[in-house]
Amino acid sequence: MPDVSLELDTPELAQRYEQISQNRQFKAGQALIATLGPTAGVQVLDIGAGTGLLAEYVAGLVGADGHVTGIDPLPLRIELAKRKARANLTFVVGDALDLGIFAEAQFDIVYLNAVFHWISDKPEALRQIFRVLKRGGRLGISTGSKDHPNLIQAIKAKVLARAPFSAHPEGRSGGPGHVSADELENLFTGAGFTVEQVDVIPNLHFHPSAAAAIEFSQASSFGNFLGHLPEDLRSQARQEIEAELDVLKTPEGIRFERARLVAVAVKP
Ligand SMILES: C[S@@+](CC[C@H](N)C(=O)[O-])C[C@H]1O[C@@H](n2cnc3c(N)ncnc32)[C@H](O)[C@@H]1O
Repeated sequence: MPDVSLELDTPELAQRYEQISQNRQFKAGQALIATLGPTAGVQVLDIGAGTGLLAEYVAGLVGADGHVTGIDPLPLRIELAKRKARANLTFVVGDALDLGIFAEAQFDIVYLNAVFHWISDKPEALRQIFRVLKRGGRLGISTGSKDHPNLIQAIKAKVLARAPFSAHPEGRSGGPGHVSADELENLFTGAGFTVEQVDVIPNLHFHPSAAAAIEFSQASSFGNFLGHLPEDLRSQARQEIEAELDVLKTPEGIRFERARLVAVAVKP
């Protein structure tokens, strides 16, 4: 289970995420939304909406008669998201594990884009999502696949196994709590959902430099990447990770090959 801190985000990381996610999480999110196919007039909940880019896009699809609500536990990200709010798009600080603020059967669609791996109690989150979905309502999840680990997590684990970092265990097993396709299917059925699809989508990305790859990880993890280390050790760890990554640099950049799960489940 990930032991994630919500206290490490900064205005700079939130702003940076808004920029770097446009070419990454936002694009993956658009593919998830295409799979869910929201039509005009539907009620949508975006869990872990971050700075609200994807929710804003979905609000454009559901039209004036529909509505998108975005929740995220990070106040700094919701602050940026709220700048995008309009009549059919609202944002509120909130958590996947605390959906009691919503009525039973309120939503036609609930989705989590690049969020599920951060949630500590996944069965509980799915139970709560099941409650707020209408019958026939659909849950969409796009998240990194546990069976296709990220290069940077592997290098980070290697560096953190060394002294002096090894004296400060991370408190979670190698970063975010990714699941495999089979585990996700079991989680869905365990919460009462019917599984519509769990697809494994390969993904290839080149980071231009080691520094860019680390910056991406820091903004996407809202400061959790190396956040468990005492502050005076963070820049040393960062330098050692950069050095390991730089060795892998090709003329195209540093190659990150992985896969994400794109999954849809229905409340029967
Ligand atoms: C990589 S960002 C994804 C943001 C957005 N969904 C997107 O597509 O750009 C991960 C988000 O998950 C949120 N998150 C982490 N734990 C959460 C939880 N328990 N409930 C809801 N959101 C959570 C974080 O606050 C962060 O904004």
